[in-house]
Amino acid sequence: SIPEYVKIVEVGPRDGLQNEKNIVPTAVKIELIKLLASSGLPVVEATSFVSPKWVPQLADAKEVVQAIQNVEGARFPVLTPNLKGFEAAVAAGAREVAIFASASESFSKSNINCSIEDSLTRYRDVSLASKELSIPVRGYISCVVGCPVEGMVSPSRVAHVAKQLSDMGCSEISLGDTIGVGTPGTVIPMLEAVLDVVPVDKLAVHFHDTYGQALSNIFASLQMGISTVDSSVSGLGGCPYAKGASGNVATEDVVYMLHGLGVKTNVDLGRLMVAGDFICKHLGRPSGSKTAIALSRS
Ligand code: HMG
Ligand code: MG
Repeated sequence: SIPEYVKIVEVGPRDGLQNEKNIVPTAVKIELIKLLASSGLPVVEATSFVSPKWVPQLADAKEVVQAIQNVEGARFPVLTPNLKGFEAAVAAGAREVAIFASASESFSKSNINCSIEDSLTRYRDVSLASKELSIPVRGYISCVVGCPVEGMVSPSRVAHVAKQLSDMGCSEISLGDTIGVGTPGTVIPMLEAVLDVVPVDKLAVHFHDTYGQALSNIFASLQMGISTVDSSVSGLGGCPYAKGASGNVATEDVVYMLHGLGVKTNVDLGRLMVAGDFICKHLGRPSGSKTAIALSRS
């Protein structure tokens, strides 16, 4: 049986925009976040406190977080790769953070410029600092089924990193198929390995839709009891350090499937489409959501 309620974590303003070449004005990002929150989404990942040399698009993280301080209805976590980012995030007013590790050594190196073990050491410092301030920390793991450099990633490596993140106190662990190569054939064994070491209510899934497998993978995850799903409005996105990776699964498509299954999300699909329309018009491109395209034709 599948969960009655699924918490959708909207990552569009962060994962969706981080790879955009043209800098999106801060005011557009803020308006997007407000529209997403007003659609009923419980969590909207707002931005990242990373090096502006590595991700120039999100160099305005401080301004974005300051501007959404009084927006109600949703929580607004931000990515922090180290203590420097964590301190800047807290100073700007962030009340939740996410750290991001990898199950693949090569990807760890290209994304955050250090080994997996070194990143976990850094993240232990971030989680200790968070604990003192009672700030919840989400832990991401990238490349949970495949890596752009190393190919297949074994489930045991994912479980190893998941256990470390769980032990350092992450309130949630999001399993990322960064390059979207997984199918239920590889995702299910990976989830089985992680479920041996982390309770199901702590897990989230994060699928990029490069091969069109995301909804199938989400359905398989629901059947295994997972009730937190990451997605990006209009299917925006891709990781700057994962060549060829396309966007996240579109939030509109996830909501359409969940509502079809009778699963509650609290999201108003019509209002969500307003947010999708807004950002697609700004970017000057059609929506990456099949649901949004179909519903706006009818
Ligand atoms: P580094 O170059 O090794 O860092 O980068 P460093 O410690 O040697 O410092 C170099 C410079 O960066 C210094 O400045 C630092 O002050 C500065 P300089 O003295 O040269 O002027 N610096 C910072 N500035 C602002 N904020 C910070 C910060 N830290 C250092 N937090 C670092 C290491 C981790 C900083 C860098 O590699 C980085 O920012 N990486 C972020 C990459 C990123 O954001 N990737 C995308 C997100 S992950 C993702 O998309 C996957 C996910 O969606 C799940 C999935 O799909 O799998 C989550
Ligand atoms: Mg991602």
